[in-house]
Amino acid sequence: MKGRVLVVDDEEGIRSFLVEALAGDGHEVVAAEDGRAALARLEREAFHLLITDLRMPGMDGMELLGKARGLQPDLEVIVLTAHGTVETAVEAMRRGAYDYLQKPLSGPDELRLVAARALERRRLLATHQGSQAGAEELVARDPAMRAVLELLDRAAPTDATVLLSGESGTGKELAARRLHAGSHRAAGPFVPVNCAALSASLLESELLGHEKGAFTGALAQRRGRFELADGGTLFLDEVSEIRPELQAKLLRVLQERRFERVGGARTIQVDVRIVAATNRDLQAEMAAGRFREDLFHRLAVIPVRLPALRERPADVPALAEHLLRRAAARLARPDLRLAPDALAALGAYPWPGNVRELGNALERAAILAREDEIHAADLLLGPIPDGAAPAAPAGGTLAELERQAIVAALQAEGGHRKRAAARLGIGLRTLYDKLKAHGLGE
Ligand SMILES: Nc1ncnc2c1ncn2[C@@H]1O[C@H](COP(=O)(O)OP(=O)(O)OP(=O)(O)O)[C@@H](O)[C@H]1O
Ligand SMILES: [Mg+2]
Repeated sequence: MKGRVLVVDDEEGIRSFLVEALAGDGHEVVAAEDGRAALARLEREAFHLLITDLRMPGMDGMELLGKARGLQPDLEVIVLTAHGTVETAVEAMRRGAYDYLQKPLSGPDELRLVAARALERRRLLATHQGSQAGAEELVARDPAMRAVLELLDRAAPTDATVLLSGESGTGKELAARRLHAGSHRAAGPFVPVNCAALSASLLESELLGHEKGAFTGALAQRRGRFELADGGTLFLDEVSEIRPELQAKLLRVLQERRFERVGGARTIQVDVRIVAATNRDLQAEMAAGRFREDLFHRLAVIPVRLPALRERPADVPALAEHLLRRAAARLARPDLRLAPDALAALGAYPWPGNVRELGNALERAAILAREDEIHAADLLLGPIPDGAAPAAPAGGTLAELERQAIVAALQAEGGHRKRAAARLGIGLRTLYDKLKAHGLGE
């Protein structure tokens, strides 16, 4: 997986180390000495991966991260952080960075590995033809989900606006990507916008862009997501979170496919297909006066409801198999498999977090399993509400909570113990002791 990489660091020594290490791995590498120079490159050329120092004079890495992603939403970002400032790196990951590396860098290997993983993830998320290698497979074994898949595939080649609804973790984003991949726009951009993540005024300029000087802080002209999605698909995620003032404006843009940038006079015309998603009940939002009815009808030309995982039990074993293979590949443990008692436990659990929770449970089990065969006890499923047989300890004692916290931290850090320890606020030594005490790992 080779890519175009932009490396940014104010120290010449680090820059040349990064360039050499990555070029030696076959990547095409460009170096910039500060945030401003990096942005100038990003405005002109497309990159797959940005590796940036966090602390730099002028624009720091965090600011660069935000701006770079504004220009190239699919860009993967890795930040470099000095020893002892891991919190900033974690903050950068919350803002969309893929991973961080600690300085001083130990050698080229870790860097190459993390870069390769970031590029691989980008490839997995990339939005090419559904059937092409790399596009994420959408598992649908249960009749309820088969019907949804059929509907998606019928809607995909049209330009019709689709409104995806369903609980969190049911696969709305995956469905949106499939709609894009199955359309004549597949070679064009797929541009997601999380409408819940930004304040009303920021969201407006995020969507429509702004002219230089449009508001305090608008230092340069910027193209919005509508423009970036030209020729492709714009995915309005968590659309129920758009404030009423902006709903009215958005309605106009959707009707006319024309708009002005914030602070601008020129009318811009775009060719964009809209897919929206919500995990709220928009009917109820409308009844409560929080969501405009006219906008709802604009969006819900083809409404598609993704069923909760508990409503499609036949999907559980198929998804478990698929998601376990994904985790096993990431961990280079191809022989991992599910024991019958594990499959039974998965079937009995109600999955309030849907497919995402199932994926997390399997990833955690794949990390923790000492043998290739995963058993029910390795799955550490949450407490099961009355009735069903409990497959895992129901939690509650301090020791159990500690164990859960450790497992969660390990999982969040992809099994990286040093980082898991940092996340838990304990030393690595202590973590090892606790792993042993809880019978987790060696
Ligand atoms: N049918 C499916 N087949 C394979 N993987 C799936 C399927 N549905 C969901 N997933 C996986 O589950 C995870 C969650 O899916 P996704 O992000 O699409 O959910 P979502 O509905 O957008 O959730 P949220 O509302 O929380 O944003 C992803 O890793 C996705 O790849
Ligand atoms: Mg989502």
